[in-house]
Amino acid sequence: MDIGSKMKEYQNIINKELENVINKEDCPEKKLNESMKYSLLAGGKRIRPILVLETYKLFENDFKECMPYAIAIEMIHNFSLIHDDLPGIDNDDFRHGKPTNHKKFNEATAILAGDGLLNGAYYVIGKDLRETTDRLLLDRKIEILNEFSYAIDRMIIGEYVDTEFENKNISEEYLEYNYKNKTGAIIRLCVRVGAILGKCSEEELQKLTIYSEKIGLAFQVKDDLLSVIGDEKIMGKPVGNDERRGKSTYVSKYGLEQAKNKLEELTKEAVEALESFGEKAKFLKGLAYYIKDRNK
Ligand code: IPE
Ligand code: IPE
Ligand code: MG
Ligand code: MG
Repeated sequence: MDIGSKMKEYQNIINKELENVINKEDCPEKKLNESMKYSLLAGGKRIRPILVLETYKLFENDFKECMPYAIAIEMIHNFSLIHDDLPGIDNDDFRHGKPTNHKKFNEATAILAGDGLLNGAYYVIGKDLRETTDRLLLDRKIEILNEFSYAIDRMIIGEYVDTEFENKNISEEYLEYNYKNKTGAIIRLCVRVGAILGKCSEEELQKLTIYSEKIGLAFQVKDDLLSVIGDEKIMGKPVGNDERRGKSTYVSKYGLEQAKNKLEELTKEAVEALESFGEKAKFLKGLAYYIKDRNK
């Protein structure tokens, strides 16, 4: 099966799960719930939960055990996107070809929808922890909880650094720090969660972490490239915004050609890190190429 159809299959499974995490009852906060659902189901690629499920599948056959964690990460990702688009951060009006959350609803609702999704993610995890009776598995899940908090903290730091460096000449070191945090941390989390839940060895965790760090950086370099040479209609978000806002990106600092080379290099290193997993890691390797070649 080609990567595109397998991703579609995964997206359908994940979308069904996401449909059920937001309260649909008639209540005074109905609009807030609607706004969370609006962003959560707006058409994201679901790369993060897919990464969790596929990494777990290196070790186990069925992914039921890690589904709540995959869903929680997608909720956190959407929280980060809603806040990233706010006037105080990137001030973007479109995402997934639709008005951004604060444009569709209002700023207060968007801020609270982001907060709600972040908290909702921990709610999903808490429910799973309560239902886990196997003591050893519970220990792993508590370790994972720590991984979550660390990664979210890093993402927030990255978002801060990103705004702090608007219209400033960022150093090479800080640019990498920014990418590692704002985008890399959550992608790294996905792979580590799947691996830890799959009871991987320390050596396997190390290799998978290298893979995740490489694709995390590659993901943002590609995001920067798309912000310059992408097709707005396909991406569903504006082209040229990074430049208009004076964002320091890999492209603005090193130019298109060097950014493309960097993307190739990171992809190659990501795939190499999975060598010892052989055939089992075929899809994860494919995902590294998907990230490099994506057009949205
Ligand atoms: C966009 O992430 C934000 C970044 C971290 C660069 P995605 O491109 O994965 O977002 P969706 O969920 O698929 O829209
Ligand atoms: C978004 O980065 C990163 C997070 C939301 C954590 P960008 O601002 O570069 O991503 P887009 O281009 O808005 O999706
Ligand atoms: Mg941003
Ligand atoms: Mg943005």
